[in-house]
Amino acid sequence: MSDDVKEWREVAKVADVPENDVIQVQLGETCIALFNLDGRHYATSGICTHAHALLAQGYVQDDTIECPLHQGVFHIPTGRAMAAPVTKDLQTYEVKVDGERILIRLP
Ligand code: FES
Repeated sequence: MSDDVKEWREVAKVADVPENDVIQVQLGETCIALFNLDGRHYATSGICTHAHALLAQGYVQDDTIECPLHQGVFHIPTGRAMAAPVTKDLQTYEVKVDGERILIRLP
């Protein structure tokens, strides 16, 4: 057994996240946007760095997420802020898939 196994927490099942879409999950007090891009999963903070908008209500296009409130854009795999008005990158989280389970490790 890996010594860090207890840090990984299940947040969803693979079937819960439609392809090329996003859902919101909660891990303790942390709001997370969980993405499925062509079968690959990514996790970022679920809240836009510009104001308090929920990114799971935004629009996934290719490997970016557009915020539903002021249309700021972030690069999903890296969390990088790409288009105004967002200037601060999103926190990203490690994701792994174990069978049907999606697990996230918080820093
Ligand atoms: Fe996301 Fe303003 S709240 S761009």
